[in-house]
Amino acid sequence: GHPHIAHRDGALHVEGLGLEALAREHGTPLFVYSKQWMLDALAAYQRGFEGRSALICYAMKANSSLGVLRVFAEAGCGFDIVSGGELARVLAVGADPAKIIFSGVGKTRAEMRQALAAGIACFNVESEAELDVLNEVALAEGRRAPISIRINPNVDPKTHPYISTGLKGNKFGIAHDRAVEAYRHAAKLPGLEVVGIDCHIGSQITEASPYLDACDRVLDLVEAIEAAGVPIHHLDFGGGLGIDYNGEVPPKADALWQQLLARLDARGFGQRKLVIEPGRSLVGNAGVCVTEVLYTKPGEDKNFCIVDAAMNDLPRPAMYQAFQKIVPLRIRAGDAPTYDVVGPVCESGDWIGRDRALNVVAGDLLAVLSAGAYCMSMASNYNTRGRAAEVLVSGRSATLIRRRETMEDQLRSEQIEGRSA
Ligand code: LLP
Repeated sequence: GHPHIAHRDGALHVEGLGLEALAREHGTPLFVYSKQWMLDALAAYQRGFEGRSALICYAMKANSSLGVLRVFAEAGCGFDIVSGGELARVLAVGADPAKIIFSGVGKTRAEMRQALAAGIACFNVESEAELDVLNEVALAEGRRAPISIRINPNVDPKTHPYISTGLKGNKFGIAHDRAVEAYRHAAKLPGLEVVGIDCHIGSQITEASPYLDACDRVLDLVEAIEAAGVPIHHLDFGGGLGIDYNGEVPPKADALWQQLLARLDARGFGQRKLVIEPGRSLVGNAGVCVTEVLYTKPGEDKNFCIVDAAMNDLPRPAMYQAFQKIVPLRIRAGDAPTYDVVGPVCESGDWIGRDRALNVVAGDLLAVLSAGAYCMSMASNYNTRGRAAEVLVSGRSATLIRRRETMEDQLRSEQIEGRSA
């Protein structure tokens, strides 16, 4: 379960604080995160790597709010970024550039320059064309860019197709068969310095076997690349470890790494520097989204429970048919009819949960669980809805880490023809 997010005395709490009071103070929809949950999740990885040389880079796309980044930066974490925007955000909380790695298939020249100037640890290069562009940019800046090449190990992570990334048909990485050639090429480019190899096979992975398969495929390649005369200093196994949305039991981070390290040791790679890029597993279950029931509406086929959070706040059900638990802050005794929980956005795809047994009336507060990852960071202004506020809870103290977006915030960058700004 959720040690830091639980009902106590009939009311849902995050650590030492009741969510009703937080919702009263800050309004809804409201994201609330447990700091301790994040630190515990990070500690599981840190335990897994005890006695090894390892860099944990939080994949900040999962939740890039400054208040969340700060928690991980303070805990000594590195970061996996995918844009110049993410770089600027993470530098704003004082992250150490020497612990930042840069992933993504479409890095622009401007982003490359920005990351070179910051002095990041590694560019995870995703194509042969990108090698040449990065080489050019680095030479023009009078620098050498540290690189690893993202290889596509072609293993099935057994997750939703939209979040599988290591299969042949994906846009990510360089094909396994091209890898040695790509490394030979990279090693010849004077603006590049080969430092590692990386892979990332997908997200919300709930079994160990795809990781073990990918590990073997990567090690086979490292042997071949080194035999071709290019030394590989670090091995980056990406992110992707899943969380419990609806009873899934993914391996624990420390247990998974015990298995992977055994495999690395057995093949003589146990002393290599390791890098990982976990996102969801560090924050997903640390957060909830509190939302108010606006209306209940009996329908011919279905009953609807219309809430004030929508697909612009919680996009995962609409995008991936994802399941997130929905629980009342205060559980009422009595019958619980079945509802589709939906938002106010004008689309049939705007649903948060389907066929949920809930005993609710208008004005009740619900919590959408497992809302710490890929919710706020994917939020939009669709239907001119302001983005929600976020609160970070630590023990009995709460910090408003993002105020609710105002209409002024939304209109600020726009202009009408014929009027001066
Ligand atoms: N590294 C790379 C190169 C990635 O592309 C990703 C995620 C990660 C690390 C972190 O993966 P994680 O540990 O969070 O699974 N919006 C989708 C998930 C997209 C994941 C994209 N890449 C969702 O809500 O399920």
